[in-house]
Amino acid sequence: MKTKKIILDCDPGHDDAISIILAASQPSLDILGITTVSGNAEIEKTTRNALKICDLVSLNDVLVSKGASEPFIRIRETAPGIHGDSGLDGPELPEPSRSWSAEHGCDTIIRLIKGADDPVTILPTGPLTNIALALLKAPEIKDNIEEIVLMGGGTFGNWTPTAEFNIWADPEAAKKVFDSGIPLVVMGLDITHQALATKEVIDQVQEIDNDVARIVGELLEFFASTYKEMFNFSGAPVHDVLTVAYCVAPELFTTKEVNITVETKGEFTAGTTSIDLHGITGRKVNAKYGLELDTEGFWKMMIEALKTY
Ligand code: BDR
Ligand code: CA
Repeated sequence: MKTKKIILDCDPGHDDAISIILAASQPSLDILGITTVSGNAEIEKTTRNALKICDLVSLNDVLVSKGASEPFIRIRETAPGIHGDSGLDGPELPEPSRSWSAEHGCDTIIRLIKGADDPVTILPTGPLTNIALALLKAPEIKDNIEEIVLMGGGTFGNWTPTAEFNIWADPEAAKKVFDSGIPLVVMGLDITHQALATKEVIDQVQEIDNDVARIVGELLEFFASTYKEMFNFSGAPVHDVLTVAYCVAPELFTTKEVNITVETKGEFTAGTTSIDLHGITGRKVNAKYGLELDTEGFWKMMIEALKTY
């Protein structure tokens, strides 16, 4: 089977953690490296969390590199109300068995892409700081990027009335990535809110008899409790997991080719994605935007994946 070479750039984060777990279970994916960014929590925390999840799923040989600790120009803001103080509250996970690499995350991205025989797919599930830094430092990597499948944005917001957290956290970096000309697949809130881990889903996960599924069950319970508290949702949207699911089973997704760019200047709208769904701006198509998810098929895939552990 031909494998897809991927880099996971993340800020674990409950849904980032579950993305790593799903990716690690898929024989069709070759994880070249994991890079971390500050987002849901400060950089040391998100990096430690990534390492803990690597231990859980025995990704012992996958390099984990710590990336940007701050957005380009904004003040860093984290999301403890959603992910807890550690960024991954809920389950008890042992301290990581190893440390992060000495190389900065953006240099890891550059090196892995330059060294890959086949074009690489990047899956960013946090603020886009590392990706923008890598593009600034080594624009030539564009030639060996297959596509960027990212979680971010939406036609509505979750952090401000119009902006989604990942884009809002570093709009300048996001704009650099959206305007880069690299083919993008964008999983925004319009589709990620269709992937709710409801009580029924969590029950199914908890019926699976292995440690990884037990931890995922605990992650989902915590995540669902904060989503209930903050947004009165009936489950947790596992936003980031859609990036991995798309790479494995694109047939579960209905997307539309559109132009998306990012508002960086608005007094009330910074970090808003301007998604030209109806082609009214004349701007050139740069992204496939996720519109509809086969929710049943998605959870089936997730449950099957967890059973493999
Ligand atoms: C995004 O923000 C974070 O809370 C999640 O990990 C996800 O990447 C959703 O807005
Ligand atoms: Ca995330």
